[in-house]
Amino acid sequence: MTEAPEACVLLIFGATGDLARRKLVPALFRLHAKGLLPDGFAILGASRKPLSHEQFRALMREACKSFCSHPPSDSEWASFAARLYYEAGHFTDQTLFQRLNMSLREIDHRHHTHGNRVFYLATLPSSYPLLVKQLDSAEMINKVNDHPFTRLVVEKPFGRDLDTAVALNEEIATVFREDQVYRIDHYLGKETVQNILVFRFANAIFEPLWNRVHIDHVQITAAETLGVEGRGAYYEETGVLSDMVQNHLLQILSLVAMEPPLSFHADAIRDKKIEVFRALRPLLGPGILQATVRGQYGQSSDGSQPAYREEPAVDSQSSVPTYVALKVFVDNWRWQGVPFYIRTGKRLSYGTTEVVIQFRHIPFCLFGQDQVCSRIEPNRLVLRIQPYDGISLGFGIKAPGNEAQVDYARMRFTYGSHYEGEIPLAYERLLVDVMRGYAALFARRDSVEEAWRFITPILTAWAENPSPDFPNYATGSEGPKAAHDFIAADGRAWYPLDPPVSST
Ligand code: BG6
Repeated sequence: MTEAPEACVLLIFGATGDLARRKLVPALFRLHAKGLLPDGFAILGASRKPLSHEQFRALMREACKSFCSHPPSDSEWASFAARLYYEAGHFTDQTLFQRLNMSLREIDHRHHTHGNRVFYLATLPSSYPLLVKQLDSAEMINKVNDHPFTRLVVEKPFGRDLDTAVALNEEIATVFREDQVYRIDHYLGKETVQNILVFRFANAIFEPLWNRVHIDHVQITAAETLGVEGRGAYYEETGVLSDMVQNHLLQILSLVAMEPPLSFHADAIRDKKIEVFRALRPLLGPGILQATVRGQYGQSSDGSQPAYREEPAVDSQSSVPTYVALKVFVDNWRWQGVPFYIRTGKRLSYGTTEVVIQFRHIPFCLFGQDQVCSRIEPNRLVLRIQPYDGISLGFGIKAPGNEAQVDYARMRFTYGSHYEGEIPLAYERLLVDVMRGYAALFARRDSVEEAWRFITPILTAWAENPSPDFPNYATGSEGPKAAHDFIAADGRAWYPLDPPVSST
């Protein structure tokens, strides 16, 4: 895990696109400014736009100005720009790959990158199979060993359902070994998501409680205030389940629910995660519609924010959901009978990502009076992923006074108050891990397919039974009323979508 990143060239396909400009190049610039990139390192961008090296550098500087928290100074930029190169062309054109090959060799010579390659597919997923084939035909992949290494980074979505995910994985597997493939799930690069494992396995006091005997239920929430933000066309094909649950939220669930791995080695962790995916109780048949709640946002109550159906590139009758709540069971010894409630949606009242572990109620109230006993809340451990990232633990205390009055207090840790300076961005960590060949924070083929195996029947049931009541929640609300009723039917309630000051 602590290996240093190795010298290499990062070849980004789709280098002028949104992902490269918003996330990848700003993250690389920040790593460069902090001196965390290897000395032998350069970036070669490839896309259709006819640009010179200089024009590409200027475009990337604009991107860093807009998307880095500290815009680059002239000297920082000059040293970073000296590592940037560009090649224009169509991915169908074989001569592009010959030119890329030549550029890579020149860069090797200039930057001492030793023939090591990271190919980053930051394009539309429909281009992945073509790119993989072209790289293979142009003999740009070392399949035999890691000297020099060739690694492939693939962005989600990995398929649209189980069949397409298997087909994509098969295409990649004809050209790359699985250990050369890094499937990015940017949630796994977030410090606070990684902290779930550290919190669980660097503390002895929680493990004895981490099971069905002590935990009543778990809630995993990813609430966003943003809408689809100009990505209407993408979202119409994806919807909330494939956009957020199949990947980010099931990955979080696996970290919360997994057994202790034998080590922090990538496959030791991923082996334990896959056991969780395999233990997910399938949602099948007519029960699916009862076990899930769908939502789609309408206008804000004052009409100032558009409904999903009014967003650019969205069908005015669209039945694509932007909200989901579902109840999941992990069928194993540790978690039998403990519901994991997952909810995520766009345009909600407050943006937060968090895991709430709710412990069981006390078995017996010895304080006698009803008004005291009814105020006693169960202990809650909140792992807050963003914002105000940190951890809080709620417990009952005696309120001062002559009577036995019970209050609920919280112990709270936040990264912001504990550490100075900026927390690294998810993409910084993930890019460094690719360069050092550490794959623990990337999704392995089997977990991607298992996650789709769980999600695909829900997608099918929803497609066959379009929701009659869309839009069913207003922009700025806490989501559809049905989601409230859904958890209330189990005698439980969602953790409020509030800033932590009042809620954790
Ligand atoms: C992306 C989804 O993967 O994650 C977006 O495609 C979503 O729809 C985003 O908004 C959320 O990421 P974050 O890091 O802002 O929580």
